[in-house]
Amino acid sequence: MSAAHDGVGGPAARRRFATLGRSVALFQAFLVEQTDPDRFYGLLADDSVRQVSGYVPLAGRTVLDVGGGPGYFAAAFRAAGARYVGLDPDVGDFSAAGDSVAGMLRGSGTALPVRSGGVDVTFSSNVLEHVSEPTRMLDEMVRVTRPGGVLFVSFTPWLSPWGGHETAPWHYLGGDRARRRYQRRNGRPPKNRFRETLFPTSIAQTLRWARGNAEVELLDALPRYHPWWARWVIRLPGIREVVAWNFLLVLRRAGAEPDGAAEKTELTGGRVAM
Ligand SMILES: C[S@@+](CC[C@H](N)C(=O)[O-])C[C@H]1O[C@@H](n2cnc3c(N)ncnc32)[C@H](O)[C@@H]1O
Repeated sequence: MSAAHDGVGGPAARRRFATLGRSVALFQAFLVEQTDPDRFYGLLADDSVRQVSGYVPLAGRTVLDVGGGPGYFAAAFRAAGARYVGLDPDVGDFSAAGDSVAGMLRGSGTALPVRSGGVDVTFSSNVLEHVSEPTRMLDEMVRVTRPGGVLFVSFTPWLSPWGGHETAPWHYLGGDRARRRYQRRNGRPPKNRFRETLFPTSIAQTLRWARGNAEVELLDALPRYHPWWARWVIRLPGIREVVAWNFLLVLRRAGAEPDGAAEKTELTGGRVAM
């Protein structure tokens, strides 16, 4: 178990974790996502668990992974001692990493089949942009998190170079046009279809939702894959939508004193321009 997994979090641990070498390794793995998914998703899952551990100890905590996907995250969270439950509308996805479907739920993030306040850590990686009602999913994630519990939500903003997913970078010319171009060149529609399974989502919109929600406290807002010294880009409205690549929001459910390492970010103090 790594140091980041033993529950010793905090700003210093987060800095030690978010190195340039880590960003480079993630980018290299991203380049082989299609040809070597085990490498990419295995690394991403392990990286995510270490990132979460920088805010909250995971041992013994219940983690709900909304849109858990192929199951890679189950092994990584369980290795950190968490009680992991994955939820996805596509249960077939769960077994792609060789995991069984035990402990997994079929459902939508917009109507979670989970009791209110039943979860210590609610997590969602790269799902929000695939949901037509993102704020409904966010509200649901807040509802199921216990007071004092922590939420992690990350997604690729539409204006990111990867915003159009496999249709990128042509989404900069319009989602419909990018979709038609992909179909023409590949003889089939993209998996991520504009306004069907891929929706334009922004950092500004998500921060606005967080700011307007009295049930959550904003702990951190950062470019998920960047080194720690590049996190200031989140302070630049407009520009951040392009350069953040992927956005991570860390929230605490209001209503109780925190019982873990989670505290407001050292850099922004929770104050991030909308
Ligand atoms: C790009 S994958 C992300 C998988 C994994 N979380 C990761 O970070 O690698 C998007 C996932 O979102 C799921 N998804 C799509 N719509 C959803 C919804 N309404 N609620 C929950 N998950 C959804 C898909 O089935 C898919 O597994």
